[in-house]
Amino acid sequence: MPVETVCWSSGACRIIDQTLLPERLKYLKLRTAEEVWGAIRHLRIRGAPAIGIAAAFGLYLGIRKTKAASFSQLMKEISHVVDYLGSSRPTAVNLFWALERMRRVALENSSLSTAQLKKCLLAEAKRILDEDIKAGRAMGDAGAHLIPDGATILTHCNAGGLATGSYGTALAVIYRAVEQGKKISVYADETRPLLQGARLTAWELAQNRIPVTVICDNMAGYLMSMGKIDAVLVGADRITASGDFANKIGTYSLAVLASVHKIPFYVVAPLSSFDITLKSGCEIPIEERPHEEIQFIRGKRIVPEGVNIFNPAFDVTPGRYVTMFITEKGVVHPPYKKTIPKLFER
Ligand code: MRU
Repeated sequence: MPVETVCWSSGACRIIDQTLLPERLKYLKLRTAEEVWGAIRHLRIRGAPAIGIAAAFGLYLGIRKTKAASFSQLMKEISHVVDYLGSSRPTAVNLFWALERMRRVALENSSLSTAQLKKCLLAEAKRILDEDIKAGRAMGDAGAHLIPDGATILTHCNAGGLATGSYGTALAVIYRAVEQGKKISVYADETRPLLQGARLTAWELAQNRIPVTVICDNMAGYLMSMGKIDAVLVGADRITASGDFANKIGTYSLAVLASVHKIPFYVVAPLSSFDITLKSGCEIPIEERPHEEIQFIRGKRIVPEGVNIFNPAFDVTPGRYVTMFITEKGVVHPPYKKTIPKLFER
């Protein structure tokens, strides 16, 4: 990545304000848990792994000025911040995974002083960021061999460096294949309503000089029918024990289309995006977002007043449509009910 999506810098969590891309590359410094909550809720930082990383820093920021006189008092405050940050967005499990990891670290270090424990929590948040960067590289390595030289890939939303600590998930596979000398070109779905594909994926790929063509979401089937797509690569916000998974709204349609056209459909995600406490996709909470996101484009009303709106931010794709999951531990084949839980065996 030419830029750092999220990092710790001079006592603050520094992020790129992704609502302003591609027109402006502006960094924001988040200094309180409230600012982190707002940045996640309003998609200034977005993408499942990046949300988890920001939340981990947010937890530290939430207790940084604590006056807790005892460990139990501090744990109460930590639990409060965990619940608060967890209320920012419901679907990406990485948010809850990171917050629980932070809470566990606090619990495991009950013998430390408050000052020491705060240091320890900041170190853990930095570790979550570092591990995510390494996971991106490992997913790239694990998936690049699946992409033939000369391939044209279709992707949806933004599953690149902007959605993670760096490098990405679905785009990591593309970056790695390109590093190996393969000629790859990409179609990026624009991804209505918030245009993460047109604004973010296209920006990121163009910065990395990878040929990218933006299409409207409803054009994917036509391209597939013309034989123009060799593989579909997407990320995931929450993957269940059966392989059903949530990702940006529109992913399900792509998976069905890919299956009809016999095009491989790969889901690229770190282990932090799996939630094996859930057996099937119908258990995944799906975020509904404000109607204004559909009613207006850049401040201009495009839907008549008084007309109903439905704005789910994610959909659920059944595992039977997934050719393979690509993780930092390697590729995962069907039957997912067996192979996914195995990933978590010690
Ligand atoms: O609403 P967003 O922009 O946070 O949605 C992001 C996605 O759906 C991504 O595809 C997903 O988080 C995987 S990113 C590595």
